[in-house]
Amino acid sequence: MVVGRPFLTVEQIHNKVKELADVISDEYEGKNLLAVGILKGAFVFFSDIVRMIRVPLVVDFLIASSYVRGDSSGEVKMHYDIREDVADKDVLLIEDIVDTGITLNYLRERILMKGPKSLKICTFLDKTERREVSVPLDYVGFRIPNEFVVGYGLDFDNKFRNLPYISTFKKTA
Ligand code: IMP
Ligand code: MG
Repeated sequence: MVVGRPFLTVEQIHNKVKELADVISDEYEGKNLLAVGILKGAFVFFSDIVRMIRVPLVVDFLIASSYVRGDSSGEVKMHYDIREDVADKDVLLIEDIVDTGITLNYLRERILMKGPKSLKICTFLDKTERREVSVPLDYVGFRIPNEFVVGYGLDFDNKFRNLPYISTFKKTA
């Protein structure tokens, strides 16, 4: 059985996305912004934020998943990589949630090797307590406690991504 309670409402989410988009719009004025959405989780946040950013941008995506082996470091698998040339771009990676940091750390290093003009990271949620690998986060929506959440693109077993708000999630027997 699934038990959950509303954690972030549609309105709280909307206001925060607008706030982040305003800061990003100011900071990327005159730059060559390439917004990269990390799929699948970031698909909702990504589509909301790019529509609120007021400077020209190009979009691209990558698909990655991390597999945690035992309780130590995970391994990241790339399923689809960025196709745009990043050499002359100010790359902004857009993620749904940073947990251990393993996925983003891997993706960040991989993109840095391609020599972008700049690279920054925007995440909607940050579970700081769970961090195993430190990653510089430039734009953070909400710092949240160590609870599993679903909705607004986030899943459990690939479900609940379509909930328009974020809910805590517990699986009971
Ligand atoms: P990391 O490599 O541990 O930082 O993993 C981050 C990824 O784990 C995210 O992109 C999500 O796909 C997934 N994840 C971590 N915490 C949650 C959660 O509370 N709900 C849903 N997915 C989560
Ligand atoms: Mg994800």
